Amino acid sequence: MRIEIIKLLKKEGKLSDETINELKEININDFHHIVKEIGAKPTEHIKASEISKDLNTKWAGRNLYVFNEVSSTNTVAKFLAKNGAENGTVVLSEKQTDARGRSGKAWEAPLGGIWLSIIVKPNVDYSKLPMITIATGVAVAKAIERAGIQNAEIKWPNDIMLNGKKVCGILTEAVTQYNHIESVIIGVGIDANININEFPEELQEGTTTIAEELGRTEDENLLIRYFLEEFEKISTLFTEEKFEEILKEWRKRSYSIGKIVEVREPFSKFYDAYVVGIGKEGALIVEKIDGTLEKVISGECIIKN
Ligand code: BTN
Repeated sequence: MRIEIIKLLKKEGKLSDETINELKEININDFHHIVKEIGAKPTEHIKASEISKDLNTKWAGRNLYVFNEVSSTNTVAKFLAKNGAENGTVVLSEKQTDARGRSGKAWEAPLGGIWLSIIVKPNVDYSKLPMITIATGVAVAKAIERAGIQNAEIKWPNDIMLNGKKVCGILTEAVTQYNHIESVIIGVGIDANININEFPEELQEGTTTIAEELGRTEDENLLIRYFLEEFEKISTLFTEEKFEEILKEWRKRSYSIGKIVEVREPFSKFYDAYVVGIGKEGALIVEKIDGTLEKVISGECIIKN
């Protein structure tokens, strides 16, 4: 891992101001220190060796970066993606000090959770981004099922729900150059072994954890391995453009279909609607009160019933 970082930075030939700023942005202020320390500093829960031990993937998670603490694993992954990191590279951190959620919200990321970002280079245009997010939601649901929890549901676009409470959120961000998508950073946050009382009060009611649902803790490294294996499998369907198969898996676990929601799309008025289904690009299909059908491509759908 240490060698990977040195390699990445050496590739540039020098430490440019831009790189230094990016290192600062991800809380890695002392470059020499980090080069010496990363890899040597033990982490409490997340262990690259444990994840890799039985990992049955060709590319997902074959390069793993594990940190004790960063601002956001998505920021670190973006930095690595811009500096030549390979498809399937994964960044993990035991804590995040400035984690990001969807719609500009902050994300709580204490010790005990799985805070992971995976870099993919799918060679697609913007229209396919929602499908990547949808596919990732299915991969998380399947990983949770492998851990023995059989009722994982997906709230559009990709909140994973257990017994009506959120256990995982996904934030997908694109790294672009000249309007071309160079990489996609998929940030996955799973509330694995956290005590719910550690969350701010306003989040406690709607949040659950893997430990809460299982009645015992589960090894984060095992859950990460399950996720990476499921992610690689579903990515193959994506690459082969078998989107209908991905959607079939999503529909089986849908938490949204058949519910009344308040649709909150960016730059438009909120409205109530009935969720009819999911369209072939991963957009939610809703029926408005006047009977017309709408496609919701981005934003939030707050469940009302
Ligand atoms: C949501 O709002 O539901 C999405 C939350 C995504 C959180 C994850 S944790 C790992 C990665 N790093 C971040 O800063 N955010 C994502």
